[in-house]
Amino acid sequence: MADNEIKEHVQQRYGQRARQVSQLTLLTPMEAACCADGTAEKGMDKSLGAYSDLYVQGDLEGIPLEAIAASAGCGNPTALAGLKLGERVLDLGSGGGIDCFLAAKQVGPTGYVVGVDMTPDMLALARKNAERLGIGNVEFVEGYIEDVPLPDGHVDVVISNCVVCLSPDKDAVASEAFRVLAPGGRLHISDIMALGPMPQEFRDNPDKWAGCVSGAEEEKDYLAHLQSAGFVDIEIQQEGGPRAKEEGMPDIVSVKVVAFKRKTG
Ligand SMILES: C[S@@+](CC[C@H](N)C(=O)[O-])C[C@H]1O[C@@H](n2cnc3c(N)ncnc32)[C@H](O)[C@@H]1O
Repeated sequence: MADNEIKEHVQQRYGQRARQVSQLTLLTPMEAACCADGTAEKGMDKSLGAYSDLYVQGDLEGIPLEAIAASAGCGNPTALAGLKLGERVLDLGSGGGIDCFLAAKQVGPTGYVVGVDMTPDMLALARKNAERLGIGNVEFVEGYIEDVPLPDGHVDVVISNCVVCLSPDKDAVASEAFRVLAPGGRLHISDIMALGPMPQEFRDNPDKWAGCVSGAEEEKDYLAHLQSAGFVDIEIQQEGGPRAKEEGMPDIVSVKVVAFKRKTG
């Protein structure tokens, strides 16, 4: 499949998900916060992931239900990033905005969070969620994570939750993350990796791309993207056991990734 076909399909599927969430007016706080499988029962597309049980209940206090319901991550990057007051944060593939809102609480009013996403309906949902939250230090910008519409050295921290695995050009994603980080900046990503090579039949399946399966790469390849972008002190750690597996497919697992941009040179 060509890169643009993959991106178009992924965009179409996540647009559909955003529109589904926007229509979930009957969701109660309990249903939304206990686990996003509740949303699946209400007609959500479960194959795109829905893992709001990754978050600690107390952290979700005040976060709009629609942001929780749209959550489609595979980890909790803001729990790992050690964000400090005043830091500037970029979320690659911000979806309904859940990690941006959690980051915004942590960096406080002197900090700033920007979410970049390519799907207009997701951006609309995220902006609406920001309005509901009445929050002033978050903005959502339309763009590709392979070509981030921000200046060099614009942020201190890059986070991302289950998005890099959706990109057909991970070299571009790594170099863009490196470019927009200020010297001394850091990257904290939750993502999906494969424990073996992904067979071509899966790589040619657009629904498996959108479901965070086909774009999952092996650790050595993931590492190579980050190293060639210039990142140092890279650590990749598996979180939990293999996720649902299909015949002919390697195991896929959730991982957390940390990497740094040197202060100088
Ligand atoms: C699996 S969802 C994760 C959303 C969010 N990070 C979360 O944890 O809920 C993937 C999101 O990434 C966006 N996305 C996927 N590929 C992208 C790309 N190449 N450039 C920009 N956004 C992308 C989709 O539009 C979607 O909103």
